[in-house]
Amino acid sequence: MSKVIFIVDDEKAISKLLKYWVKDKWDYETEVFDSGEEVLKRLDSKKPDLLLLDIMLPGVSGLEVLKKIRETDTQLPVIMLSAQGDVETAVDSLRFGAYDYFPKPIDVQRLEPTVKNAIKNYELLKELENLKETVQKEYSFENIISADKKMQGVFKLVSKILDNEITVLIHGESGTGKELIARAIHFNGNRKTKPFIVVNCASIPRELLESELFGHEKGSFTGAYQRKLGKFELANEGTIFLDEVGELEMLLQAKLLRVIQEREFERVGGTELIKTNVRILSATNRDLREAVLSKHFREDLYYRLNSFPINIPPLRQRRSDILVLTEYFLKKCNKKLGRSIKGFSKNAIKHIYDYDWPGNIREMENTIERCIIVSENDIIDVEDLPSQIRSNDDNRLPVVTEGGLFEGDNIIPFEKLKEDAIRHALDVTEGNIVEAAKKLELGRATIYRLMEKYKIENRSNE
Ligand SMILES: Nc1ncnc2c1ncn2[C@@H]1O[C@H](COP(=O)(O)OP(=O)(O)OP(=O)(O)O)[C@@H](O)[C@H]1O
Ligand SMILES: [Mg+2]
Repeated sequence: MSKVIFIVDDEKAISKLLKYWVKDKWDYETEVFDSGEEVLKRLDSKKPDLLLLDIMLPGVSGLEVLKKIRETDTQLPVIMLSAQGDVETAVDSLRFGAYDYFPKPIDVQRLEPTVKNAIKNYELLKELENLKETVQKEYSFENIISADKKMQGVFKLVSKILDNEITVLIHGESGTGKELIARAIHFNGNRKTKPFIVVNCASIPRELLESELFGHEKGSFTGAYQRKLGKFELANEGTIFLDEVGELEMLLQAKLLRVIQEREFERVGGTELIKTNVRILSATNRDLREAVLSKHFREDLYYRLNSFPINIPPLRQRRSDILVLTEYFLKKCNKKLGRSIKGFSKNAIKHIYDYDWPGNIREMENTIERCIIVSENDIIDVEDLPSQIRSNDDNRLPVVTEGGLFEGDNIIPFEKLKEDAIRHALDVTEGNIVEAAKKLELGRATIYRLMEKYKIENRSNE
């Protein structure tokens, strides 16, 4: 689609000349106006891609038109045209967000590249805006799928802290969606148009992490050829997400504590105090309290980071989500891979449901993607499943030994027997599911499933 340029000048000779170049030579659409009022009225219904705007207009001046535009649109490029007498106003207009200014008589050779660049720039900015919107949509809560009560609780908590500054620590096993929740907090809160910066404290070598977080000055260590800004500076006004925060070494823990308390730090090798305004979210799959007890993590830092804890339960503790997520990822991966797999066989679903999913949702997403790739039919069957899920043998029933239970003509319903066996095992092991599973010779998944079925509360806080 052709780009549109508005030309605003009360001197007919000039607007005619400009129209000649802009329309006939450079091939843009044009609309010509001879007063500020007129163009403002038109701007209500039509947005051009650029304005050539005379400063000296009868009535509403060019500068006023510019200010009016800037009230609602900070990006639309406006090039001011100034007569000899108002160069000062022209310079002033830059402060009010004009893209550039040209004194009359206008040098069209110079005007042409300026117009082209401004339009290109504007287009890129608009694209960026769109992209931002897409990202924001991607991390909207609609894309975090869960039917589980505990997760609904998590969402409720999250919705309460979107727009404030509180420091949040997200705890959960690997693959449970910690980063997804962190992104949702950022992209749904009032910092959403500002940067979201992720630092994985476990994957960056220790000796580099300090400079990664806080930046360094030129020459501060071998290899520091120039000044580098750290993530805390890059995240300014936005959010920093410290993933695997439990892996921070003591020295950096101290420096982080200072950032949280004082909102300031120095670059490595630098003396300048850098002020920072960032929201800190962090995540861990370790039990940080334990790390505090074993003196691997500063207690004061722990309390600071943990002002608002969010705990994401593993998938095996929210079994209802297994099927919901299976369906979700089937759709998502079908789309991504251009396939149209209809679903899973009953038997395959049973295996999926009974599996423990130690890698949680990430494992599930990868598994389903893999299934879709290998499946040759439009229904995924057991043989398409990875071996660890296929071999999840949970069909063994408790072996009932002969004994008192079966004396005389006392017949106990089979379900009742199973339920009692589980209750008994959990009593004996004091709610230790791993132990109970071992003693019952069952898979852990089966125990969870049966506990759910018989409504047995999990006493231990796994
Ligand atoms: N409830 C959910 N709904 C949809 N997708 C989810 C959900 N939870 C997690 N995912 C997806 O699962 C994958 C893993 O999530 P994420 O990276 O947030 O987990 P994590 O806890 O940070 O994992 P790790 O500890 O391994 O870094 C991502 O692709 C994420 O989009
Ligand atoms: Mg993660």
